[in-house]
Amino acid sequence: MSAHPLVEIKGLKVYFPLAHGEVVRAVDGVDLRIHAGEAVGLVGESGSGKSTLARALLRLLPLTAGEVWFDGRPLHRLPEREMRPLRAQMQIVFQDPMASLNPRMRVGAILAEPLEVHRIARGRQAWEQAGRLLERVGLSREHLHRYPHEFSGGQRQRICIARAIATQPRLLVADEPTSALDLSIRAQIHRLLRELQEELNMAILFVTHDLHAVRQVCSRVEVMYLGKIVECAPVQRLFTEPAHPYTRTLLDAVLEPMPSQARRPRRLPTGDAPTATRVPTGCRFHTRCPIAQERCREEEPELREVGKGHRAACFYPLSGGTG
Ligand SMILES: Nc1ncnc2c1ncn2[C@@H]1O[C@H](COP(=O)(O)OP(=O)(O)OP(=O)(O)O)[C@@H](O)[C@H]1O
Ligand SMILES: [Mg+2]
Repeated sequence: MSAHPLVEIKGLKVYFPLAHGEVVRAVDGVDLRIHAGEAVGLVGESGSGKSTLARALLRLLPLTAGEVWFDGRPLHRLPEREMRPLRAQMQIVFQDPMASLNPRMRVGAILAEPLEVHRIARGRQAWEQAGRLLERVGLSREHLHRYPHEFSGGQRQRICIARAIATQPRLLVADEPTSALDLSIRAQIHRLLRELQEELNMAILFVTHDLHAVRQVCSRVEVMYLGKIVECAPVQRLFTEPAHPYTRTLLDAVLEPMPSQARRPRRLPTGDAPTATRVPTGCRFHTRCPIAQERCREEEPELREVGKGHRAACFYPLSGGTG
């Protein structure tokens, strides 16, 4: 791992002012690093700010505050003209492949486009390269002449991935890339992402609700709650020794106990579910936390080390020491 990270986010805030004076604090002070070639998962409930963070990192959204560094360059203050060449190095794949493929373009033309835009190849050569990209993602050269509607959902997502890797990006952001796909197809796409990450030494920021998917694709996980990172850890460690009570409840929801076991999954208290317009004081999770103390209502915990490569923003972490 090189000393300076591929991506370094510092104190990032992305706020959306609403018409009636309220403000959505979608991303509310995030620090995050991604090293070259590293696959990082970003998990959290719906509305926690994952997509906003991912888009802000690619500068697809204006930043309210903070810094985003990519390969040592300050994206937060680059003019768009200087962003353009960098865009080839950072690509994104979205949840709905049909919505991100032009239905009137043949697959060959769809794949040739980024090659031409970024002046990597033109004409026949671009088409040739497009064929190789298709083969690389598990499709075939004959598919160059077909239209997006002629493919299944999984195949379409492969096309989107092929388009994203056309420019050999150093960072791929995948925002729920398999959430819309059948369960049986998901694992195949996850395997493909993992292979590409290794072969191309490409970093991945993999945004998902699906903790199992994270295990298939990533080596490290960041857990987000109401605009903040509340825990980050190597994947295995997060599963076996979660330190933040929020992570614990996320895990309990997916790691169903055996029917014979007495232990029942803990459910998150539903009552007073806060939103990004009404972020609780102190620890923002305290209103739903099963072990919250007085201190949690008053003070906001910072991320701190609870183990090797493992940090949690909790005064009373479940593993790795006490508050
Ligand atoms: N353009 C916008 N204007 C106002 N509020 C927004 C906008 N985009 C996102 N939000 C709000 O910001 C918060 C974070 O949204 P975001 O889409 O980043 O969450 P997410 O973690 O990606 O959720 P999901 O898992 O459902 O995709 C939510 O409260 C959302 O309603
Ligand atoms: Mg999202």
